[in-house]
Amino acid sequence: MNAATQYVYVNGEIVPENDAKISVFDRGFLFADGVYEVSSILAGKLIDNDMHLKRLQRSLDELELTSPLTMEDLNAAQIALVEKNAVDQGMLYLQITRGGTAPRQFHFPKDAKPSLVMFTQHKNLLEAPEFETGITAITIPEIRWKRRDIKSVALLAQALGKQQAVAAGADEALMVENGNITEGTSSTAFIVVDGNKVISRRANTEILNGITRQAVLQLIEETDIEFIERRFTPEEAYSADELFITSASTFVHPVVKLDDRTIGTGKPGSVATRLRELYIASAMSS
Ligand code: PDD
Repeated sequence: MNAATQYVYVNGEIVPENDAKISVFDRGFLFADGVYEVSSILAGKLIDNDMHLKRLQRSLDELELTSPLTMEDLNAAQIALVEKNAVDQGMLYLQITRGGTAPRQFHFPKDAKPSLVMFTQHKNLLEAPEFETGITAITIPEIRWKRRDIKSVALLAQALGKQQAVAAGADEALMVENGNITEGTSSTAFIVVDGNKVISRRANTEILNGITRQAVLQLIEETDIEFIERRFTPEEAYSADELFITSASTFVHPVVKLDDRTIGTGKPGSVATRLRELYIASAMSS
């Protein structure tokens, strides 16, 4: 094995990627019948991971899925994989699907055994060039199902949305429903108005309750920044002082252009910059 071998976790074992096996009858593959989490890694440590595992448990419960491991054992397996792949900075992806057996059937098979897989990715999270320049986004219609609070692996609408963004030369797509922005294809959206008021919509079934969003909101409480929980429109975003997104894989990213409109000064704003710094400082010290 050379140093670049990527190890993955599959149902109790850490194996080289090429040795991993999952049944073609797995319902994750056939029906997108499964849930996932992405935790970031800084200095070899999983960030906000307890909150990710809590949301995982909630997603599992909503789909009547059972984790093959207790959350404690799952956490131990995550740590083992991060160590095996020697990840200093990056992400850990974890997925639990319902498993499955032949013949294919729509309702839950009684004898299906859930599958648990994990892999890691190296990514420089602290010196992202996107942070220096800001990223760009487009708005697209919201076409997803109505249970976006469940972190389901059914991500086709999001993959199509991100592809549309990339085809338009942008980095992210913000989805719009009934005239309001719901969220990014893989991120939570915020605007800043009146210099220091941060606005983000309520985390109900219409969006994923972002873990980075929750962590950032906790940090905001200790500052003079005001938080207002409400929906906002693309027009409000166009004329906002700042627009930014959060996610485990980007932390806080300023968005400097939405559709053909420049946001604020066209450079990362002071609130997003401050929240990014606060988030990283808090993650590094936890
Ligand atoms: N996505 N909304 C959606 C639709 C997402 O897919 C994500 C994260 C978020 C932000 O959630 P969090 O702060 O917990 O990462 C919001 C992950 C990173 C992904 O699919 O890769």
